[in-house]
Amino acid sequence: MKFQKKILCIGAGYVGVPSMAMIAAKCPDCRVTVVDINSQRIDAWNSAELPLYEPGLEEIVYKTRGRNLFFAKDIENQIRENDIIFVSVNTPTKMFGTGAGMAADLQYWEKTAREILQYSRSPKIVIEKSTLPVKTALAMERILSSAKGKITFEVLSNPEFMAEGTAIQDLENPDRVLIGSRETKSGLKARAELAGIYARWIPEEKIITSNIWSSELSKLVANAFLAQRVSSINSISALCEKTDANIAEVARAVGMDSRVGSKFLNAGIGFGGSCFKKDILNLVYLCNYYGLPEVANYWESVVKINEYQQERFITNILGSMFNTLAGKKICILGFAFKADTGDTRESPAINITRRLLTEHAEVIISDPKALTNAALDLADEKGAIAYMEDPYRAAAGCHALVILTDWDLYKKLDYKKIYKSMVKPAFLFDGRNILDHNKCFEIGFNVYPIGKPALSHFVKQDC
Ligand SMILES: NC(=O)c1ccc[n+]([C@@H]2O[C@H](COP(=O)([O-])OP(=O)(O)OC[C@H]3O[C@@H](n4cnc5c(N)ncnc54)[C@H](O)[C@@H]3O)[C@@H](O)[C@H]2O)c1
Repeated sequence: MKFQKKILCIGAGYVGVPSMAMIAAKCPDCRVTVVDINSQRIDAWNSAELPLYEPGLEEIVYKTRGRNLFFAKDIENQIRENDIIFVSVNTPTKMFGTGAGMAADLQYWEKTAREILQYSRSPKIVIEKSTLPVKTALAMERILSSAKGKITFEVLSNPEFMAEGTAIQDLENPDRVLIGSRETKSGLKARAELAGIYARWIPEEKIITSNIWSSELSKLVANAFLAQRVSSINSISALCEKTDANIAEVARAVGMDSRVGSKFLNAGIGFGGSCFKKDILNLVYLCNYYGLPEVANYWESVVKINEYQQERFITNILGSMFNTLAGKKICILGFAFKADTGDTRESPAINITRRLLTEHAEVIISDPKALTNAALDLADEKGAIAYMEDPYRAAAGCHALVILTDWDLYKKLDYKKIYKSMVKPAFLFDGRNILDHNKCFEIGFNVYPIGKPALSHFVKQDC
């Protein structure tokens, strides 16, 4: 079959594959190829067991794979053969040198730019899909024009706003698609070409365009705003616990104001995931770099509150369980950073588990999709850890249940049965505020939600 467009994506990860599978599904006349330096990952994408879990992804990959979606290892050939190249490689926080712990590590990004330059034999549209610091396109353009050859490259910014767990829904029906370009004749032409691909299934009013720097910056700012809401509500949850106010009631009252809105107002142990923290820290770094320390401090406080919230949670577990966890068995329900994903990058569960192990607790971890990643994250731990997918088996014989991921399945468990199988007094720490706390208290648990009064069977005694 002769394809109308030949599209390549460099980076077969959480963003690259779902977004390319969606383009392949919606544009059967386009050939879409995804490459990666990790050849095992490519093998897994070509196998019956896909390397990552995302609701609905399997169906769409199985429908398009081998038809107009391909996973390949020959990066050099693929760069040569395709005309439109999305770059969706990882851009983690830099852990060395200048900007360590703050700035984005652009080594994977730059390597890709150099490869595109080296292997290209015809003009390309190069699209930044990764989340990048504002002005990265300038560096990309400088690398791509450094050979002074005849080949022209047009760099566009097209940040991805999908969320893991709902990626397929988000890609099928996004709130918006953003395309940033240089406002030159060739830049506008490239922008129109990319917009034309999305217009195959997304209403035109949702495809918005901007200058390239606004587009790059918008992604960092969008994540900073989302994380800020989480930290805002979590900071108030601390005050609720001191004043007997209830964070769920406060959030409902505040969120019903249409200027505020009700989404992202659930108090909990804070945000995780590969993006929020790194993108805010990157924003903080950029603000400092451009001489705006007040702005930098403002955004950094979002990350600080997130860390504070986890710390409060751990202190609460320790204090409620008579200030010693040594030899006690603690069942962790949920290790993924959020529900409906197996991704554990920056999951609060990593830090919380490590802290429990430091207190010499025995930890039993349960999660429907994230146990393989959990074991990798904790591979260096010497403490007592067991992994059990079945939550009932995991909880049996434990002193406490600690809910760290908002999986739907945890709302539906038989807590009476679980309570019976546990050591008494049994403790329940609901780090995601997803359970019916009164019901669990009536069953017999001592219940510790976030931002709400604890429900304890112990009689309060003043010393
Ligand atoms: N995960 C999300 O929810 C999300 C959402 C929006 C945006 N983003 C951004 O998208 C980008 C990718 O994120 P991700 O979660 O998909 O990362 P990921 O780690 O899952 O995938 C990145 C892939 O790129 C590959 N890679 C790195 N260097 C390469 C090279 N030179 N050539 C070929 N392949 C290379 C890696 O092997 C890896 O498989 C990041 O910038 C991230 O900030 C992520």
